Amino acid sequence: MSVTNFLRAKAEGRKLSMITCYDYTFARLLAKSTIDAILVGDSAGMVMHGYASTLGMNVELMRLHTQAVSSGAREKFIIADMPFLSYRKGLPAALDSAQLLMSAGAHAVKLEGVDGHEDVIERLAGSGVPVMGHLGMQPQSVNSYGGFKVQGRSEEASRDILHQAEALEKLGAFAVVLECIPASLAAEITGALRIPTIGIGAGACCDGQILVLQDLLGMNVDFHPRFARPFVDGAHTVLDAIASYDEAVKTGSFPTREESFA
Ligand code: KIV
Repeated sequence: MSVTNFLRAKAEGRKLSMITCYDYTFARLLAKSTIDAILVGDSAGMVMHGYASTLGMNVELMRLHTQAVSSGAREKFIIADMPFLSYRKGLPAALDSAQLLMSAGAHAVKLEGVDGHEDVIERLAGSGVPVMGHLGMQPQSVNSYGGFKVQGRSEEASRDILHQAEALEKLGAFAVVLECIPASLAAEITGALRIPTIGIGAGACCDGQILVLQDLLGMNVDFHPRFARPFVDGAHTVLDAIASYDEAVKTGSFPTREESFA
């Protein structure tokens, strides 16, 4: 997979599948899968560190997660999220942050929004750092929204998101994530752009889809967003395995002679 394959997939009408990943073990599994690309998302803050939002992530944490995923899935196209404010402190700081993520094994970076950091997007894209945009519900702006809320419902807001998407394409982004916007708006943006749209909570008309790995594995019993279909009941599968182990230890059936050394 490469940036040109993203564009070719859209031109040929082939859907792109992406999954988030934050660690080596799951990266090894994703490396054996047919998914097109892995996002080392700053959702790691919530999924791996138990933060209430993505705001607690910083470049060093993202670098460590990116390195772990890269070690496990070298053959996959890896996109790393630029964390909160890392691309809003001026061009040199943004370039340094992107350099750390690319040196850790990312092939591209993702950043949220456009307004106010057009220079960063353009400079990265023109410096050999492919940029994926992220529009609609931008989790790093959760405090401005007053919660994780669907965006782009009003005419004005939907025009704004469309214009930002067009600006991203002009600035050189190779793809854009559309998060939690009406499906009709996502379809309009997808039709208006040459670069592929990757949806999450943005309906079926996007050029591809992305889900948080732990959501699609059904690992979180307390969190069931409408758009995140669990493809397996991972929480209960894991809990059943742990219960079996616990019972085996306590009844003395584990370990067996074959599982012991002479
Ligand atoms: O951090 C993340 O996981 C993301 C996806 C939800 C697109 O940005």
